[in-house]
Amino acid sequence: MELNGFSVIGHRGACGYAPENTLASFAKAIELGVDMVEFDVQRCKTGELVVLHDTKVNRTTNGKGSVGDFTLADLQKLDAGKGEQIPTLREVLDLVDREARVNIEIKQEGIVDDVAAIIKEYVTRHGWSEKDFLVSSFWHRELAAFKKIYPGVATSALFVCDPAGGIEFVSSLGVDAVGCSIEFISKELVQDVHARDKKIFLFTVNAPDEIRYALSLGVDGIFSDFPDRVLAAINR
Ligand code: G3P
Ligand code: MG
Repeated sequence: MELNGFSVIGHRGACGYAPENTLASFAKAIELGVDMVEFDVQRCKTGELVVLHDTKVNRTTNGKGSVGDFTLADLQKLDAGKGEQIPTLREVLDLVDREARVNIEIKQEGIVDDVAAIIKEYVTRHGWSEKDFLVSSFWHRELAAFKKIYPGVATSALFVCDPAGGIEFVSSLGVDAVGCSIEFISKELVQDVHARDKKIFLFTVNAPDEIRYALSLGVDGIFSDFPDRVLAAINR
């Protein structure tokens, strides 16, 4: 991944404008001009990697149950909002088609081999570069496993808590970046991460005053449901 420069990252596509993690949401993010689209990946019952945030389909579709209990065909029958379907990882990559970089967030253990295989397929057969990908997860050991399989692709360790205490550990795993919530950001944290030659990305920042605050601290990227607000704040 091209980790240089500031990245405007569309969270779950541009989910302030279209149903999250759907092709419509990714198309909207690209139309707005994001540098990168972020989405969440899990495996369904028949083995395909699908793009969905929750482990259950209940919140974002008209169905009920765990993703892992659905075949791909049954998942595709669900309405993911405004008539959209739950897409597969391949469908999202085909739609994005290098119009933006992609941040694949690994939402469960045991899928890093499959994620690496699909990235490799797009690099070797579809003209993508390893630099077009960022692989992230709250499951830090999965990132270490991914890095062993595919060291050329950048990784980012996500934190639900203050990352300060965990930076030493994730550095030892060889991650390239850290992702944290705006509630834990500080100038000191940004400096600590940068001193380790890593990048820091902030999620999920939607309020214009918070976007300005994050920018003032020198973070390397901002995830937003409304990425046009981040673009406006940096005059793009
Ligand atoms: O990667 C940033 C963000 O997507 C992490 O949180 O819960 O929205 O996947 P979540
Ligand atoms: Mg995510």
